[in-house]
Amino acid sequence: MSRPHQLFIKKQVQTDLYKKTGLEKTLTAFSLTTMGIGAIVGSGIFITPGLIAANYTGPSVMLSYLIAVIVCAMAALCYSEFSSTIPLAGSAYTYVYAVFGEFAAWILGWALISEYLFAVSSVAVSWSSYFQNLLAGFGMKLPPVLQAAAGTAGVKGGGIDIIALVITMLVAWLLSKGIRESAKINNIMVIVKILVILLFIGIAIFYVKPANYNPFLPFGTSGIFKGAAVTFYAYIGFDAVSTASEEVKNPKRNMPIGIISSLLVAAVLYVSLSAVLVGVVHYSKLNVADPVALALTLIHQDWASGVISFGAIVGMTTVLIVMSYGGTRLLFAISRDGLLPASLKKLNPKTHVPVANTWIFGAIASIFAAVIPIDKIAELVNIGTLSAFAMVSLGIVFLRHDERFKNLDTSFKVPWYPYLPIISFLACVYLMTQLQPFTWEAFGVWVILGLIVYITYGYRHSQVRQIKDAG
Ligand code: ALA
Repeated sequence: MSRPHQLFIKKQVQTDLYKKTGLEKTLTAFSLTTMGIGAIVGSGIFITPGLIAANYTGPSVMLSYLIAVIVCAMAALCYSEFSSTIPLAGSAYTYVYAVFGEFAAWILGWALISEYLFAVSSVAVSWSSYFQNLLAGFGMKLPPVLQAAAGTAGVKGGGIDIIALVITMLVAWLLSKGIRESAKINNIMVIVKILVILLFIGIAIFYVKPANYNPFLPFGTSGIFKGAAVTFYAYIGFDAVSTASEEVKNPKRNMPIGIISSLLVAAVLYVSLSAVLVGVVHYSKLNVADPVALALTLIHQDWASGVISFGAIVGMTTVLIVMSYGGTRLLFAISRDGLLPASLKKLNPKTHVPVANTWIFGAIASIFAAVIPIDKIAELVNIGTLSAFAMVSLGIVFLRHDERFKNLDTSFKVPWYPYLPIISFLACVYLMTQLQPFTWEAFGVWVILGLIVYITYGYRHSQVRQIKDAG
């Protein structure tokens, strides 16, 4: 039983069943793009440009967004190849299980759990800031101890972020009822999101002071790369698109178009907004949780600040729903493989929702959201994500050599193979090295915790190993 090679046992994938999943193939490249924008554009535009400009890059923040999108697009192409070759639930975790085996899949799944948990918490914190900004417009204010986590920059006397806690639990409640945003609602939210971003740019551009761009690189060129490692966060969400591959018309063509165009639209919005933001407000003042609203208040456009806070709240709600949904389905897939307790895969017979799993995920994310300052959470999202993207990129090289998938004509192929996946892998690892020591320490603790769970539980309960032993 405990022979070391058992750690590399691979998930069997029945490629002949792909065409018979029963799901209707209705999604087009356009609908995938709007889905992607819905999942991607959230606090990455409404909050991180300020944090990154203030802490890493100064006015050159838009360059960090550019570098991050290039790395992300390479990883996205690798995701597309995987998702069209192995279109099964569980996304990157399942791909790696099939290609590298169980141990790597567990480590990756565990890293992805941290990505989803921290992504939800950080978006909830931004949601809370913008909501409080909106309340302030009506003269309402929470006592400082409930406004933000202790140690949050710019907040004196913080304690816990009560609104972030409540919104995370509210989303868990919605998902536990089996409510998923419909494509129609998503489209409306995406339009609102894009309109408020354009509104901001359209107003604020007239208040840009060229002096604010000087010095352009106050933290040196290394700051741009450190910033890119953090802005990576802003592009997370496209992986949610890759999980829909069973429902896409002609996935070979539409999946990469959908993923890449949603990343492109996001990049154009991010780069333009951040360029205007640092032109309006000196970067040193942007270490706040609601920089866009702050900029508008400083230029005395309070009405627009209210409208944009509302749009930001709507926009971030979609991200919260998609990321919470993704996190719970990931837990479900891991538990179905026996690597996590069976209670996480238990479905409600009526709604078919993994209810216990949804509440547990919501409770943990809401505690993180309530007590960890936003800049720390944003970095924690990145390290888990970058490690997952690095593994997925490298995984392509192994996928191409795997006899089981070699002759599948249904799949999209990454261009410039093997250079692109290898460069993508190296770029992700490089960006990881740019993250703060605190992030590495916290991630180290997380991985050790994961190893303990695997040794004490997953290894013994793995379904794949049990099937193999029985056979
Ligand atoms: N990309 C997501 C956002 O920016 C996490 O909100």
